[in-house]
Amino acid sequence: MLTFTLNGRPCSFDAVAPETTALALLRGRAGACGTKEGCASGDCGACTIAIGTRNDRGGRHYHSANACITPVHQLQGQAVVTVEGLAHGDGLHPVQQAMVDQHASQCGFCTPGIVMSLFCLDHERRRRGLAGPPDDDAIEAALGGNLCRCTGYRPIRDAAKRMHTLPAAQLAPEEASGDPAPETAADSAGFHRPATRADLIERLRQHPQARLIAGGTDLMLAHTLALEPLAPLIDLSAIPELQHIDEDEAGWWIGAGVTYSRLEPLLADTHPAFLQLLERLGSRQIRNRATLSGNLANASPIGDTPPVLLALGARLRLNGIHGARELAIDDFFTGYRRTALAPGEYLEAVQLPRLQAGQRLLAWKLSKRREDDISAVMLALRTTVDDRGRLVNVRVACGGMAATPQRARRVERQLEGRVFEASTLARARAALAEDFAPIDDVRASREYRLNAAAGLLTRAFHQLNTHPAAIPMTLEEV
Ligand SMILES: Cc1cc2nc3c(=O)[nH]c(=O)nc-3n(C[C@H](O)[C@H](O)[C@H](O)COP(=O)(O)OP(=O)(O)OC[C@H]3O[C@@H](n4cnc5c(N)ncnc54)[C@H](O)[C@@H]3O)c2cc1C
Ligand code: FES
Ligand code: FES
Repeated sequence: MLTFTLNGRPCSFDAVAPETTALALLRGRAGACGTKEGCASGDCGACTIAIGTRNDRGGRHYHSANACITPVHQLQGQAVVTVEGLAHGDGLHPVQQAMVDQHASQCGFCTPGIVMSLFCLDHERRRRGLAGPPDDDAIEAALGGNLCRCTGYRPIRDAAKRMHTLPAAQLAPEEASGDPAPETAADSAGFHRPATRADLIERLRQHPQARLIAGGTDLMLAHTLALEPLAPLIDLSAIPELQHIDEDEAGWWIGAGVTYSRLEPLLADTHPAFLQLLERLGSRQIRNRATLSGNLANASPIGDTPPVLLALGARLRLNGIHGARELAIDDFFTGYRRTALAPGEYLEAVQLPRLQAGQRLLAWKLSKRREDDISAVMLALRTTVDDRGRLVNVRVACGGMAATPQRARRVERQLEGRVFEASTLARARAALAEDFAPIDDVRASREYRLNAAAGLLTRAFHQLNTHPAAIPMTLEEV
């Protein structure tokens, strides 16, 4: 039995198929048709809902999510708010009122999703006691996953700036009702929700053919776009042991259940270049659900995080029916969308190596669109610049340049131990063509990829800026 609260009212559903999305259940069985379907792939934001979890202080934190790719079984025990849950009688929620006041309601497909993204932003700001309007960056981050194709965002942004001026609304039914008791396993539905690591390993033993699911932001698309059956599924999101971020001398271990949104504060303190990249991974809705482990296990050659973790020299902690082991990330990607994970094994935690004193990390993603787009080319570089201006311990990795995310070892050899001057850069750029033979595809041509990656090396050269006098003024000089 699947149980959660919907707009403050407890509800239960039986016989829910394992691949069912939150959107299908909300619109089909719960009659909450305010949540729209635009793309069914997490891209447009029309289906945005708010999912609430209790925090330590008894308040509720809401995150936005794409209902079209959220497995509904992951809503077990959660408080879900849809656009129908905001107004009370004739009293509009401040977000809705601000949208009306600013003439920001555009088309009926996008507006409910836009309202829900703004609701999450507004609720979180009030919960944290932040005064004044959100700044442009916060608004952009909240709305980056809500695509309007008809008009534009100006009145919507105005509404985002106005909503804080209106009196807070109590989501009355939400406060009146408690959370439904969490329920874990749902074996009959083919959606397994282990609650402990030991339970997970037991399920892997019992269901060797099962697929793992974390945020589902990659996996669910196989069902919503290609109608692939996915069951049986084993869900990693309800296992507290996988929700940890543990620190040791070498860095931090990011558990397989930790979402990007939860990782962001750590990256802000320790790896700002990684954070900047992450801000362009999908949208806020995606980052609220998706995980680092899912990105690695998915093994896409154009995933955003593998080049960074390769450049950092991360280690991975694997576990499963044959016990635990550690692996260097260099040994993880074994071929196009293939990894070193054995049957019955899962990725338990990903190491985020600490940057040593003087070490720099640079990482860039090139994509056709700035927001919510997959990369065409990525380059990440980690190095120390010693007191004589030489690069030491250089690691460079690229995405979109080969069948797997891959280190650029010949480039590294050209840089290691050398002053980063024009001749070094020229040799490193030339070495890219020896390291990689990229393909032409819809995202970019082979030539574009090679040129763009070389351009990113030039950007690294300017950024590291080890010998200003030696910096060539034009690209022709390198
Ligand atoms: C609209 C949209 C935009 C996106 N934008 C980007 C982007 O800009 N950059 C980018 O890199 N990606 C992007 N993605 C892809 C996706 O969000 C990421 O790859 C994400 O990190 C996947 O994490 P997840 O937890 O959702 O994985 P899931 O979808 O749950 O799983 C992905 C795969 O990994 C396996 N898996 C998951 N966790 C584990 C584990 N712990 N151990 C072993 N196997 C596991 C699953 O079986 C599945 O095969 C986007 C996706 C969408 C829908
Ligand atoms: S329907 Fe487009 S993001 Fe869900
Ligand atoms: S608001 Fe829907 S396309 Fe512009």
